Amino acid sequence: MENFAATGSGSLHGAALPVLTLKQLDVDPHGVFRQYRKDHAVVLHETGGYFVLRFADVDRLGKDPRAGASGTSFPEALGVSSGAIFDLFTYSMITADGDVHRRRRAPFSRLFAPRTINEMRKSIRRTADDLIGERYGRGEMDFFGEFASEMPARMIADLLGLPRQDIPKFTLLVYEVTKIFSFGLKPDELGEIENAIRQLRDYVDKVLGERRRRPRDDFLSAFLAAATEAGELSPEEMLYQVMPLIIGSADTTRVAITMQLALLLQHREQWAAVCDDPSLVPAAVTEAMRFEPSAAGTARLARENIDVGGSVIPAGQLVVLSIMSAMRDETAYRSPDTFDIRRTDQPRLHPIFGFGAHRCIGEALARAELEESLSVITARIPQLHLDAAPKIKGHYGVRRIDAAMRVFWKP
Ligand code: HEM
Repeated sequence: MENFAATGSGSLHGAALPVLTLKQLDVDPHGVFRQYRKDHAVVLHETGGYFVLRFADVDRLGKDPRAGASGTSFPEALGVSSGAIFDLFTYSMITADGDVHRRRRAPFSRLFAPRTINEMRKSIRRTADDLIGERYGRGEMDFFGEFASEMPARMIADLLGLPRQDIPKFTLLVYEVTKIFSFGLKPDELGEIENAIRQLRDYVDKVLGERRRRPRDDFLSAFLAAATEAGELSPEEMLYQVMPLIIGSADTTRVAITMQLALLLQHREQWAAVCDDPSLVPAAVTEAMRFEPSAAGTARLARENIDVGGSVIPAGQLVVLSIMSAMRDETAYRSPDTFDIRRTDQPRLHPIFGFGAHRCIGEALARAELEESLSVITARIPQLHLDAAPKIKGHYGVRRIDAAMRVFWKP
């Protein structure tokens, strides 16, 4: 990411900022953030970008118009200035500010509003029940592949009206595409991501084309009709708003569903407490996402010089709001490195899902999937055990679990 190359500048008083390396972050991201957070509000990343580490700064800058949407600066820094990767950043809501952002996001607000999503809870619960029921007699499963990956894929397919038989196709593409939201990509990875975005775009384009020709009683048909009548979105914008819904829903949620189960099974007393008292489920879900978030950070672009805790982020630089670091900040949480579903210091608008106008549009859906999954599993298989804890990797964007997570039980 040459445009954002770490310069060691940015300090108000001339002292160079520390530069974090991929190598150290790959080994122990929480440890690295902890080590620097105390003395530095901001650090540099070796591939570029200013990482903001403390809760109060991350929360404030997430809503500060001086730290605007990142536009196409992220792909440009990777040397990409055209093609499918570039278009994804050009046309989607997450990279836009102000009125453009409002136009792109507004058509989806009602579909993803907590009220609409709560009406889906029964069907989410039924899906969780089916996924367990189909495998119960076996006494074991790869939870990551067979449950956590299936749940969000089925739900976004149902919500948007995509055929369930398309799930294997679009999920494989999504898992490739989400790699774009990470640091330290190699040139051959960029080629594969470009290819996956192109295929996903062609897939969504085909579905939208079918709905245009033969409208159905589903969300996409209603969206196309309303957006065409309002005349506020170009055909590219329509296409590139639907894609992030599919991209945003699949990988983030499957990692979160996996991690919440893994963390609870590793803290057996808390697992037993949730099995005994289902009212603890929402708190357990929130704490698992605080402790090991599936989205580690989100990007902004400094519109002007911004002073953060005595260091200046220069105008034009990429600002990474490190949600992962903020949620382990000792000044915001008591014993932040302890997993505790009974903690009383969780903020109401939690940084897990971002900030301000860009706050995740899928929060209610993700929470419903996480909560219903945990409710069903704790009710049906309290005797569940974990074979080995999964390794979650990554310190920016969507974090990854690269191997199966085997769980077993006595049927
Ligand atoms: C556990 C699951 C999820 C997590 C942790 C998560 C996290 C996030 C975060 C951190 C942001 C960035 C907010 C910002 O920059 O301030 C975001 C934005 C977004 N998310 Fe999610 N998300 C999840 C699930 C979903 C789902 C299920 C969907 C699909 C509906 C979705 C769609 C989006 C979209 C479209 C945006 C861009 C919103 C905008 O810019 O206005 N996410 N999400």
